[in-house]
Amino acid sequence: MTDKIARLCKDAAERLAGCHFGVALTGAGISVESGIPDFRSPDGLWSKFDPMEYGYIESFRRNPAKVWKMILEVQKVVDKAKPNPAHIGLAELEKLGCLRTVITQNIDSLHQQAGNTDVIEFHGHARTLRCDDCGRRYKPKEVSYDDLPPRCTCGGPLRPDFVFFGEPIPVHAHMRAMDVARQCDVLLVIGTSAVVAPASHIPVVAKESGAFIIEINPVPSALTNSISDIYIPAPAGKAMPLIVDEVKTLKG
Ligand code: APR
Repeated sequence: MTDKIARLCKDAAERLAGCHFGVALTGAGISVESGIPDFRSPDGLWSKFDPMEYGYIESFRRNPAKVWKMILEVQKVVDKAKPNPAHIGLAELEKLGCLRTVITQNIDSLHQQAGNTDVIEFHGHARTLRCDDCGRRYKPKEVSYDDLPPRCTCGGPLRPDFVFFGEPIPVHAHMRAMDVARQCDVLLVIGTSAVVAPASHIPVVAKESGAFIIEINPVPSALTNSISDIYIPAPAGKAMPLIVDEVKTLKG
C-alpha cells in the first residue's frame, strides 16, 4: 500500500471512529477477492452473458432453461466463496460500534457469513428459490436440476429469490435502505459502479441528508467525482484491514 492510500485509510478511519450512525453500501466489487466476478469489469459476468438475454425478468420468462445455465454457474462459484478481509472488516467495524447496517446489492450472503447482523439485501439473495405461480419456496439443494428449469410441485418454473432487471426491489429492503441512508452520518461505499438504479440513489440520498461519503474502489465510479468525500483507489480487501486497524487504535 502506498503512503497515499495509507493516509486516505487513516482519514476514513477517523470519520468512522467518530460517527454515530455508520452504514455501508456494497456492490459486487467487495466479493471479487472472494473469487466471485463482478458484472461490469472487463471479465465481469456481463462480458460473458449478455444482460439483455440473461438479466431481465422477460429473458427468464422467455427462456428459463437458458437463464438457469447461467444461474447454476454463478451458484457454483458463490457456494465455494468465503468472506474476504473486506467482509470481515465490515463485521469488525460493527463490533467496534462504527457500523450499524450493511446495505448490499450482492446475493452471496457473505456479509452474514462474516458476522454483520443487520444486512439489507437490496437485490434479494440466493438462499432460496421460489415459484412465481404458487409462491412456494425451496432450498436450492431440495430440487432437481436434471431438467432445466427446476420445477415446483405445482409444475411452475422455479426462480432464485433475487431480482432480475425489470422487477421491483423487495419493498421492505427498499424502504429500510432509504431510511438508513437518510439517518446515517457516514456512508462507506465499497465495490459498486453505482450505475444501477435505485441502488445508485442511496449515496445521493445519504449525501443530501448530510452524510460523509467514503468510497473504496480501485477504479473510479459514477460517485467518485461528484459524491465521494474520500475516495480510496484500492482493492477493498487491502484497504479495509488498514481502516479497521486504525479505528482500533483510535478507539483505544
Ligand atoms: N475492491 C473494491 N471494488 C472493486 C474490486 C475490489 N477488489 N474489484 C472490482 N471493484 C469495483 C469495480 O471497479 C466496479 O466499479 O466494483 C465495481 C463493481 O461494479 P459492477 O460490476 O457494476 O457491480 P455492482 O455495482 O454491484 O452492480 C449493481 O447491477 O447487474 C446488476 O444486479 C446486479 O447488483 C448488481 C447491480
